[in-house]
Amino acid sequence: MAYSHKPVMLREVLEFLNPLAGQKFIDCTLGGAGYTLALADRVGERGKVVAIDLDSLALSNAAEEIKNRKLKNIILIQDNFKNLETIIGANFPAEERFDGLVLDLGLSSAQLDDENRGFSFKGDRPLDMAFGPANGRSTADIVNYYPLLELTRIFREYGEERRAYQIAKAIVAGRRIKKFKTTAELIALIESAAASHNRSRIHPATRVFQALRMETNEELPALSEVLPAAARILKTGGRLVVVSFHSGEDRIVKRYLKDTPGWKILTKRPIIPTEDETRENPRARSAKLRAAIKI
Ligand SMILES: C[S@@+](CC[C@H](N)C(=O)[O-])C[C@H]1O[C@@H](n2cnc3c(N)ncnc32)[C@H](O)[C@@H]1O
Repeated sequence: MAYSHKPVMLREVLEFLNPLAGQKFIDCTLGGAGYTLALADRVGERGKVVAIDLDSLALSNAAEEIKNRKLKNIILIQDNFKNLETIIGANFPAEERFDGLVLDLGLSSAQLDDENRGFSFKGDRPLDMAFGPANGRSTADIVNYYPLLELTRIFREYGEERRAYQIAKAIVAGRRIKKFKTTAELIALIESAAASHNRSRIHPATRVFQALRMETNEELPALSEVLPAAARILKTGGRLVVVSFHSGEDRIVKRYLKDTPGWKILTKRPIIPTEDETRENPRARSAKLRAAIKI
């Protein structure tokens, strides 16, 4: 399958990271390799880019691209970025420090379009929203076994879904009759549970799907873990850039940078994509970029 993903705010990301020849960077979210390839180009043969992703599809696509371009300055690693220090410790000497690190959170367009996974509510797909290899509990487990109040909490906190409790209650009633296996089964239930209230322009399953994805991949805890690890791995003067798509993610980054000594914040307010970019790439519209320098 061809891997498609348009990098979001690439120009701004590069401006804040300011990569120079010979420097070393970490791209914690390889995806379609948009940032990784641009960084590799800027740091040149003497520099290095470590690119991490959980998704084998992202890694095989990047490996192909690297081979075609005959690049020797990119190291690809399949892992969770929350293990950043272990990953770097296993691949570099203990004293190694980096010039910059970037995170571009959430999922890629290629993952959304992947028919073998259940990120999209188009079509009928397995109830599996994991970014990578199974981490012990699948999306189907969450839907079929989480207690009512736990489901309500994730729909509310991660999905900002106003009808969190009603939808969770309908799921619990539905799964007593038959466990959910596919996205279409879940969507049909959400559509009927939400039908009388749905005045929004977005699909009634959008927020629930976002919440299930974030819970499946433990996305907010992973972000909270990687930020202090990034601080330890960057050089003094090293740069951190985070692009997020969810208010909960942006809040974690904002609070972390504000509350942790040792950072000079470069973005008083988050940077958002230009109108031209959102017109060309509507998926960029909710992006927020924050950047800081380690001092
Ligand atoms: C929005 S895409 C990145 C796109 C990339 N910047 C580009 O230019 O193509 C996010 C990627 O991060 C990966 N990802 C999300 N959470 C992760 C985690 N905790 N550890 C490793 N990879 C993760 C996803 O699998 C996805 O491929």
